[in-house]
Amino acid sequence: MEYVIGIDLGTSAVKVLLVDKNGRVKGEWTEPYPLYQPRSGYSEQNPEDWIEKTIAALKNVLQTAKIDPHSVRGLSFSGQMHGLVLLNEKHEVLREAILWNDTRTTEECREIEERVGKEKLLSITQNRALEGFTLPKLLWVKKYEPHIYEQAHTFLLPKDYVRFRFTGHVAMEYSDAAGTLLLDIRNKVWSRQLCHALDIDIGLCPPLVESAAYVGTLLPEVAEQTGLPTTVKVFAGGADNACGAIGAGILSEGRTMCSIGTSGVILAYEQTGNKQFAGKVHYFNHANPNSYYIMGVTLAAGYSFEWFKRTFAPEDSFSEIVKRASESTIGANGLLFTPYLVGERTPYADANIRSSFIGIDASHTKWDFARAVIEGITFSLNESITIIKESGKQVKSVVSVGGGAKSQEWLQIQANIFDTPIEKLKNEQGPGMGAAMIAACGCGWFTSLEECASVFKQVEQIVEPREEETKLYRELFLVYRQIYSQTKEINEQLKKLRK
Ligand code: XUL
Repeated sequence: MEYVIGIDLGTSAVKVLLVDKNGRVKGEWTEPYPLYQPRSGYSEQNPEDWIEKTIAALKNVLQTAKIDPHSVRGLSFSGQMHGLVLLNEKHEVLREAILWNDTRTTEECREIEERVGKEKLLSITQNRALEGFTLPKLLWVKKYEPHIYEQAHTFLLPKDYVRFRFTGHVAMEYSDAAGTLLLDIRNKVWSRQLCHALDIDIGLCPPLVESAAYVGTLLPEVAEQTGLPTTVKVFAGGADNACGAIGAGILSEGRTMCSIGTSGVILAYEQTGNKQFAGKVHYFNHANPNSYYIMGVTLAAGYSFEWFKRTFAPEDSFSEIVKRASESTIGANGLLFTPYLVGERTPYADANIRSSFIGIDASHTKWDFARAVIEGITFSLNESITIIKESGKQVKSVVSVGGGAKSQEWLQIQANIFDTPIEKLKNEQGPGMGAAMIAACGCGWFTSLEECASVFKQVEQIVEPREEETKLYRELFLVYRQIYSQTKEINEQLKKLRK
């Protein structure tokens, strides 16, 4: 048997999947690494940790799967998006990587929108300036660490840096480059206009490659440390959201995915780069050639649920909480929750908004609150589904992945609130599977990712919406949608009083 490897460089850990030609997972290994938060709002990692742990994970997956390493033909990457890795002329790392969930750059985002103009920025990048993206981080280093910025020769994103260390080739692939806010996403070139307006040397931007690009073989020292042969072909890979979409088969118009992890994502395939969303959703190049995806993000999805458990039901398991919550009624006996625990991205990019429970009644139990949290998270994701539908795109069904797909009750709530059938996958593996699929195509096992998905991706169950429940949720959603505007001002005032 022959194998490929998908490496998913996540925020808390690297996960490595060893996959055979039928899409079966022969081995998997996860190695965690630390996240540094030296100040409030800061989120950094040491790129050397990624290298060390990826090597360890590869070595362990080979050893535990007990396969002949020479049967591994190729590997590819999926990775956390937007993180800034600055390199000097010798390609040495100049400072800790600043990650996607670092929020220090609000000032830089305003500066970008003022100097470039919101409309111009949207027309080039199809996105708004958000704290998470790479460009504001680059401007932050330029302003606050000029001695470091002066030495910068180029910059990479997390998984592109690991690939560089594995192959010796410096390159950034398009699906991740789209999240820098410096890419002209339709013409697939670095934007001279943006660099000029913001006084950034375009020479800092690395060479661009397609996700499917073959970038080389493993360097001898990496081969030796991992136990893999130097013949293993390395393919560029994709951003974690793009790879998650590949794994879920989001590869043609009408296909949509809902991923509920710490954050929640609604992602829809988009063939053209021309649809106008006014920056309400992210618009990025897909890792599938010459296509795009749009994406809405609920920052605290699984995180809201974890918060509820930690605060109100620490003794109960997640599945017990969902089970008890499902005994409450549709609409949690008149209780609504907005999942804005850490601010929000879609549809309101607002760092100051906070959560509310609305309609608390003396009869409410803990489980009504749990139900309201689950419904609130799903309503928030439905805001993104609504934006997609309102753009004229069809949402024929939604593939549900992540924690939200693990519970039958929550799958049914998704079907009812999204008013669409929900597909649950068999043996879902997250973005690492998308990376393995890129490698499988690169090795010539399949002629397209779609062909690969028809073998690798299997649907285990389809959950249909229930008409009566959907009707009730439609009415509740109209009420839910008013909470943001009605609590925005209150939250601004509260922020000033919060110590
Ligand atoms: C996407 C984003 C996150 C990271 C997480 O815009 O910031 O989904 O990619 O890894």
